[in-house]
Amino acid sequence: MSKPMACEVVHVSVPSRTYDVTIGRGILDQVGLLTRATCNATRACVISDSNVSPLYSDVVIDSLGKAGMEPHLLTFPAGERSKGIRTYSDLLEGLAKAGLTRDDVVVALGGGVTGDLAGFAAATYMRGCAVVQVPTSLLAMVDSSVGGKTAIDLSAGKNLAGAFFQPSAVIADVDCLRTIDPLLFADSCGEVIKHGVLADPSLFERLEERPLTDEGPGDDDLIGVVRRNVEIKRDIVDADEREGGVRQTLNLGHTIGHAIEAASDFKIGHGSCVAAGLCCMARACVAKGICDEEVAERIEHVVAAHGLPTDTDLDHELLLELAGSDKKRHGDTLNIVVPLSIGHVEVKKVDLPELGELIDLGCGVASDGR
Ligand code: GLY
Repeated sequence: MSKPMACEVVHVSVPSRTYDVTIGRGILDQVGLLTRATCNATRACVISDSNVSPLYSDVVIDSLGKAGMEPHLLTFPAGERSKGIRTYSDLLEGLAKAGLTRDDVVVALGGGVTGDLAGFAAATYMRGCAVVQVPTSLLAMVDSSVGGKTAIDLSAGKNLAGAFFQPSAVIADVDCLRTIDPLLFADSCGEVIKHGVLADPSLFERLEERPLTDEGPGDDDLIGVVRRNVEIKRDIVDADEREGGVRQTLNLGHTIGHAIEAASDFKIGHGSCVAAGLCCMARACVAKGICDEEVAERIEHVVAAHGLPTDTDLDHELLLELAGSDKKRHGDTLNIVVPLSIGHVEVKKVDLPELGELIDLGCGVASDGR
C-alpha cells in the first residue's frame, strides 16, 4: 500500500505481528483505506470517548464506509474513570450487538484511555479481533498506541487487567492535536523528553533548543518529532515485545512517577509525573555517582522549559510505599531505570531500602523548589 501524501511511515515488526504506523496531517479521511489494507473486515466499530467522538468520529466513520465496511460507533464518557470493568463490559456487549465477528475490526479513536480500553476489548472479543489505533493525543501518538499494551484499571490499581495485543495499523493525524488543551499537550511532552533521555541525544537537543510547547500543535517539525519517538519505541518493542528485557527502559521516570501519580489520585497528568520522576531519579543518580551533574541539570532544564514539574514535595515514606507496591515489583526487589548520560540508560535491580535512599537523595531537593 502506498503511503498517503506527506506522510511518514514507521514499520513495526514484533514476533506476534508486523504493522505500519502512518503519521501525517489531515489523514483521518484515510483511516478507511489504511484499515482496508490490513484486513478483510465486513464491519468496523469505532470506539471513542465523549470528548473526541463529536470532533472526529464522523470523518472516520465516513471513510470506513467509503472503504466498503459497515461502520458502527460506540462511545463512553471521557476520563480515566471509564477505564474499568464496567465500560469494558459495555463495549464487549456493544461489539456483539453490532454483529462484529472475529474477522471484523475495532478502530480505537482517541487518547491513551481509549487506546487501552478499546485495545483490550479487541484483544478479548471472540478471543481477539483486529484493532486499528487512531491516537488523537500526543501521548498516545508517541507512546501508548504503539507496542501493543492494552489494559483496564481494577479497584486495586491501574492497568491491572490487560494483554499484549498488537494493533494491525496505527494512524496518527497530528492535526488532531490542534483541539487538545495546551496543558494536556505539555503533559504529553514528559514521555517525549523521556524518549530523548533514554535513546536519542539529538531529539533531546532539539527539545532543549526548541521546546515542543513553544509552537505546540503548529510546530512544522511535529510529524518528524512524532516519527522519531515512534522509531525509538519501535526499536525497543521490536527487540523485546513482552518486556522481559530492554522494554523495561521505557519505564524511565516511572517508578517515582507512578508513586506521585497515585498519591495525587491521578489528578496530576501521567507525563508530568514521569517528568518529575525522571528529574528525581537523575538527581539521586548524581548523588550516587551514577551520572554527571550536567545530565541532571540538562534534564531538569528541559522539563522546566516544557512547563512540567521537576520535583515533588510528597512525604518520602509515602513515595516509597507507593513505588514499592508497583505491579512491576519482583518479590523484594524492583527494576528501576537510571540515566547514565543523555541517550543512555541502564536497568538496575534495587531492594526497598535502596529505593528509599534514592528517594531521599532525589526528591524534595530541587534548587528551584518546584
Ligand atoms: N509505555 C511503556 C511501554 O509500552 O512499554
